[in-house]
Amino acid sequence: MADSDPLVRTATVQDIPAIQELSACIWPIAYGAILSQAQIDFMLKKMYSTEALTQQIETLEHTFLLLEADQLPRGFASFSLHEIKTYRLHKLYVLSDYQGKGAGKKLLDTVIHQAKEKGANALELNVNRENNAIAFYKKIGFSIVREEDIAIGSGYFMNDYVMQLSL
Ligand SMILES: CC(C)(COP(=O)(O)OP(=O)(O)OC[C@H]1O[C@@H](n2cnc3c(N)ncnc32)[C@H](O)[C@@H]1OP(=O)(O)O)[C@@H](O)C(=O)NCCC(=O)NCCS
Repeated sequence: MADSDPLVRTATVQDIPAIQELSACIWPIAYGAILSQAQIDFMLKKMYSTEALTQQIETLEHTFLLLEADQLPRGFASFSLHEIKTYRLHKLYVLSDYQGKGAGKKLLDTVIHQAKEKGANALELNVNRENNAIAFYKKIGFSIVREEDIAIGSGYFMNDYVMQLSL
């Protein structure tokens, strides 16, 4: 049977286990060729522990979106206000066997729509300089505005591009 149309909904702290399961599946595949397993484990713990996700949702006011098809979670995104009229996309991840079906674009379109409704005129993100997702973001209309090498602790770095889309 064909998959039903995916739905995007706002996630809450109740959805933290689903977000953790998705990230545990997606990260090793997405970053396995770019980062060491030790760095992937370090970053997952830092950014996806229950404590970290609760803080992002409740204190930092990151909006989390969950994409579900056939009532199963397949991907997620998060974003928040960064500076006046500029929003930041923090996370955008789709399960590898659900990629290439429009889910990433659907999540990003929802982020763009909600950010615009809140008065944004730009959306910004960081992406690893070796990540294939750069081509996806360029296709949506983002351009590279600068490079950033960010120390994230324990001697690890994020070697990123900052990309921006005018809304
Ligand atoms: C990047 C990602 C979110 C894209 O989601 P997706 O569901 O696979 O992409 P979609 O099916 O919505 O693709 C939308 C369009 O972008 C294109 N596209 C998707 N990934 C692409 C890529 N890596 N290179 C070039 N084009 C790409 C698609 O062909 C499609 O084009 P079309 O509209 O002409 O058909 C997804 O591949 C992913 O989760 N990757 C691993 C995690 C990751 O790296 N996230 C980004 C962190 S910064």
